[in-house]
Amino acid sequence: MSGLTPIVVWGSKGQAKVLAEFFDASGFRAAAFFDNDPDAVSPIDGVPIHIGAPGFERWLRAADRSTVSFVVAVGGDRGRERLEIYELLAGAGLAPATLVHPTAFVARDALLGTGSQILVRACVCTRAVLGRACIVNTAATVDHECELGDGVHIGPGATLAGCVRVGEAAFIGAGAVVLPRIRIGADAVVGAGAVVTRDVESGWVVTGVPAVRTARAARSGA
Ligand SMILES: CC(C)(COP(=O)(O)OP(=O)(O)OC[C@H]1O[C@@H](n2cnc3c(N)ncnc32)[C@H](O)[C@@H]1OP(=O)(O)O)[C@@H](O)C(=O)NCCC(=O)NCCS
Repeated sequence: MSGLTPIVVWGSKGQAKVLAEFFDASGFRAAAFFDNDPDAVSPIDGVPIHIGAPGFERWLRAADRSTVSFVVAVGGDRGRERLEIYELLAGAGLAPATLVHPTAFVARDALLGTGSQILVRACVCTRAVLGRACIVNTAATVDHECELGDGVHIGPGATLAGCVRVGEAAFIGAGAVVLPRIRIGADAVVGAGAVVTRDVESGWVVTGVPAVRTARAARSGA
């Protein structure tokens, strides 16, 4: 046996492929993928993929769930969905895995919520606190004393300066910059490349430099 812990992954697209690249370096081996898309393909040859809740329930009946970890590989602005699936899998008795790429920096006194995913060359700096099922994507920076709620996604190359607070399930797009002490509300979306100089209300979508609210409809919950 490999000595690696079996992990199941909900999702099979980009985020799942990115995570699969460093499962072994994190002490895991993929045991199964799940996806709601009936045309989904397993990202790893030889590892089965099961479709939707019925596929998951069939897999679960045959599994020794006490030995299996899970991760929810659902990215983009789908933080609420990531949290719902997290609750489903944790409620089924599986253990949430927290995955940190070997090239990422996580300060010794930072706190990562269970199920969080810290990707290649990302930085989570001193006294940062992350909720459950957060994603800090490739080369993103979460600087000192930032607080991220559950299900937050910081996109590739985005920068949160110090003491920023981000509400549940908010999504910060690729390359965006959020200035110190700004508050971003729950379910908000910050567009790629934006520079956020003022607080953002829950559910707002903001873009540009400086970032302003866009005409796009507010997201649910706003
Ligand atoms: C801001 C965002 C959420 C808007 O999405 P959307 O509502 O589907 O917007 P659309 O693509 O329909 O574009 C609507 C308008 O906004 C503009 N726009 C879109 N994204 C923009 C951005 N980041 N900055 C400035 N303008 C933007 C478009 O050019 C378009 O302008 P037009 O009406 O003059 O043609 C999205 O474009 C974005 O930036 N998402 C982040 C993606 C990302 O970083 N992904 C990382 C993957 S891990």
